[in-house]
Amino acid sequence: MRQDDLPVRGGKVTAYVYDTGRPEVHEAAARAYAEMLEVNCLDPTAFPSIVEMERQVVGAVAAELGGGHGIFTSGGTESIMLAVKAARDSRPVAGRPALVAPVTAHPAFHKAAHYLGLDVVRTPVDPGTFRADPAAVAAAITRDTVLVVASAPSYPQGVLDPVAEIAAAAAARGVPCHVDACVGGWLLPWLREAGAEVPPFDLSVSGVTSLSCDLHKFGYAPKGASVVLFRDPAMRRRAYYASAAWPGYTVINATVQSSRSAGPLGGAWATLQALGREGYLRLGRDTLAAARLLREGVAGIPGLRVLGDPVSSLVAIAGSDEVDVFVLSDEARKRGWFLQPQLSYAGIPANIHITVTGATLAGVDAMLKVIAESAAAARERGPATPPPGLVELVAGLDLDALDDAAFGELAASVGVNLTGGGQPEMAVVNAILDALDPETRESILIRFLSTIYA
Ligand SMILES: Cc1ncc(COP(=O)(O)O)c(C=O)c1O
Repeated sequence: MRQDDLPVRGGKVTAYVYDTGRPEVHEAAARAYAEMLEVNCLDPTAFPSIVEMERQVVGAVAAELGGGHGIFTSGGTESIMLAVKAARDSRPVAGRPALVAPVTAHPAFHKAAHYLGLDVVRTPVDPGTFRADPAAVAAAITRDTVLVVASAPSYPQGVLDPVAEIAAAAAARGVPCHVDACVGGWLLPWLREAGAEVPPFDLSVSGVTSLSCDLHKFGYAPKGASVVLFRDPAMRRRAYYASAAWPGYTVINATVQSSRSAGPLGGAWATLQALGREGYLRLGRDTLAAARLLREGVAGIPGLRVLGDPVSSLVAIAGSDEVDVFVLSDEARKRGWFLQPQLSYAGIPANIHITVTGATLAGVDAMLKVIAESAAAARERGPATPPPGLVELVAGLDLDALDDAAFGELAASVGVNLTGGGQPEMAVVNAILDALDPETRESILIRFLSTIYA
């Protein structure tokens, strides 16, 4: 079944996966994962190993990121969900609770708000730097604001929001501030030690009340590993959940999940042990060098430009009238590389997103060669253009009146086979999505999901 999967090692997939380039590290994680696989985090009194292991993992993250009291979770989304719940429950407001988030904040905040009954107030970012505008954040805070968000870095362009200013604006109104360091928490400290200019972004910054840091990203741990830290233990308690109001076992949950494998915890613990500070620092140095080479190399490719000045190693590359980034991404895929397409939003152009990791350095020349070749091919092919009238047709569709089979036929009409397999040509699909408003995009994406699982 895995024959058409993208490879998880080797650095040719520049999103989703994080390869150290050191197989023995991943093997150590896999052994620990298997060792803990059947242990259930549901009851810490039954399996005290999980308490000790979590204390060590969370302790290591807190020691690097300004202290605090943490929870090991399944990923960035769950860490953010718990931070939003804790903020909501520690700050009762008269109206419907709201959170303030720059447009570049991860959708996990929208998802948490959706699940937990909050409104989201989106604030603009600087159109040149893509960093959040602290004055806009300050102006968006109302009596019903329960949380303000800053990203370190934000995923789309890899830039660091002005954390200190945003946290100060929140503190001035007595509002908690969450720093989403899901990507940067276990990367920026090593980049800083390797010589990058990284302003303070963690719990050491006054006004920051919680922070998320994913170990399954730049911690290089197997998936299912993140830490959310709270400055105040009372706020962490607001993230917890307990129920004794039924005639069954007592329910005591630190996370959204109840029964939960300790495998990811074991995998994260072993990865931290196997790499150690020295290992992360070495990966950080390589990451920094690779990101610099990539940015410099892209600057020399006609029709492409790097968006903003990313302090992290996430690099967003925009195209031009001549070079369509969606076509470029398809061309790269034909050459064995996955470069992640990102749609335009809030005035920010469509682009391809590359997550540079420690393993990128060894292949950065090959990556640049593929980007240059794919850009030339995209120039030759011209921009992806949806069939005439199709965008208007899709925009006007009553999706609820369309069954999954009819949606599958519609997708087939633009060359997408939703029955799976192979290497999909996505440029036209991305061009159609790009031309639609975000709500219509979302409806289409949900139909896509239900159709592939039909
Ligand atoms: C900045 C940021 N926050 C949160 C998340 C969500 O993390 P996850 O996919 O682990 O739920 C991501 C994922 O890429 C991210 O980049």
